[in-house]
Amino acid sequence: MKKSVSLILSLAMVLGLACTGTAFAQDVKTVGISMPTKSLERWNRDGSYLKDQFEAAGYKVELTYSDNKYVQQNNDIANMIADGVDVLIISAIDSDTLSPVLADAEEAGITVIAYDRLINNANVAYYVSFDNYTVGVLQAQYVIDALDLENAGDKTYNIEFTAGDPADTNATYFFNGAYDTLAPFIEAGTLKIPSGKTSFQQVATDQWSTDQALENFQNTLASYYGDGTVLDVALCSNDSTAAGVAQAILTDYAGENQPIVTGQDGDIGNLQNIVDGTQTMTVYKNVSDEAGVTLVLVSAILNGETPGAELCEQFPAEAAFDTETYDNGLGVVPSYLLVPYSIDASNLDLLIETGNYAWDEDGKYLVSTLK
Ligand code: BGC
Repeated sequence: MKKSVSLILSLAMVLGLACTGTAFAQDVKTVGISMPTKSLERWNRDGSYLKDQFEAAGYKVELTYSDNKYVQQNNDIANMIADGVDVLIISAIDSDTLSPVLADAEEAGITVIAYDRLINNANVAYYVSFDNYTVGVLQAQYVIDALDLENAGDKTYNIEFTAGDPADTNATYFFNGAYDTLAPFIEAGTLKIPSGKTSFQQVATDQWSTDQALENFQNTLASYYGDGTVLDVALCSNDSTAAGVAQAILTDYAGENQPIVTGQDGDIGNLQNIVDGTQTMTVYKNVSDEAGVTLVLVSAILNGETPGAELCEQFPAEAAFDTETYDNGLGVVPSYLLVPYSIDASNLDLLIETGNYAWDEDGKYLVSTLK
């Protein structure tokens, strides 16, 4: 009897040594995940993919959504610090408001990963995102190709911009990527902006709100297109704003043509609009891969490593290691940037290949495979 107990004990010890890190309660690390809001499809996906992937790898997960309220996000993060999480993965509602609570995280020795959105003026170990500037470039390049702007000759086209939330660092990268790429055509007069709204501030949309994008665009249409002026392109930074703009075009645009409407994310409603023709394209970012990259990174950090470019080889998807682009006020934050790509009605099948979407029963629209 005594012998078998000690046998079990020593077996447990051997197993304990073999399964370093996750096999026994005292070794289980906890990851705190702070997402901005449940109101936009992508953050539900991010939260679920992160939670599922970290739990499958043996981590404990605390996941919060802060209803797009930065005060609530501060509180949620403070609670997770009090709960003693080992790592914080944060997608900021407002990039500029997290310094105080993250000073507490630093004091508690908690590693902070800025997820998708950069966090300013705080000690952030790494940034995991997509190449945000390229998102805008892809939207612009789509317009250049669709209108064959390189060979436009004397032809001119009208374009209007809709950008994102000024509190989100990504929003200016998206806008600049698109605007810079189209600038030669704007300067040459091939692209005209009847509203004269050429700066990010003039076309920004608080909280990426669909309703606000709708209202803003209705105003633009009423003021500059009411006389029958043709709108050729509505360059929208993402799908939530594109949804509002597409709606405004449906109800308030007098022209006969369907303008090109760009977006970003591959939200289900927007993919339906792409099938129906009221949105033209979206820039897809596989956030399941973004979660996967974050898991590999966090595991390496908790393993005592200081990851660099070499970690990219272990990622489930292509990503670049960037040590130049994202300065958060305290210095450049080393970043892993995944690759976005263009989707329109002609290549929706690429989304099926991600495993994150499936065709519906009629084979007409895409549905989410997320449970
Ligand atoms: C994300 C986009 C998203 C937007 C609104 C940005 O920070 O990168 O994918 O569309 O926030 O949620």
